[in-house]
Amino acid sequence: MKKLVAAVIVSLLAAPSAWAAGASDTFQAKCAACHGKDGKGQSDMAKKLGVKDLTVTKLPVAEIEKVIQNGRGKMTPWKGKLSDAEIGALAKFVAGGLK
Ligand code: HEC
Repeated sequence: MKKLVAAVIVSLLAAPSAWAAGASDTFQAKCAACHGKDGKGQSDMAKKLGVKDLTVTKLPVAEIEKVIQNGRGKMTPWKGKLSDAEIGALAKFVAGGLK
């Protein structure tokens, strides 16, 4: 198991920067700091920010895309920092309960 984990880490580090991250990876990299790794908003940071549990959001994909693009309240906008394709994939990922 340790070897497998090490192999995965090595391959991630070795991945070219153009490597398109999946929505789950993007979420961990860009969103987890505020929303928690599982998106449930249980981390100290998430509680401080007052984020909702993303896994039970009732927002449709199009609305989620807008929140990601434009930000809302204390959430920073991601338009220009993430590609439209990345934002679209993230919105579907969130709408699907982060699975
Ligand atoms: C700087 C902290 C921060 C980061 C980083 C962040 N968010 Fe947020 N997010 C928030 C806060 C705070 C809210 C609540 C905004 C409000 O309604 O006042 C929020 C709200 C949302 C909502 C709306 C939830 C609902 O049910 O109303 C979605 C969807 C969302 N964030 C997705 C994301 C995604 C996807 C990312 C990664 C690209 C992300 N957030 C990154 C802080 C953050």
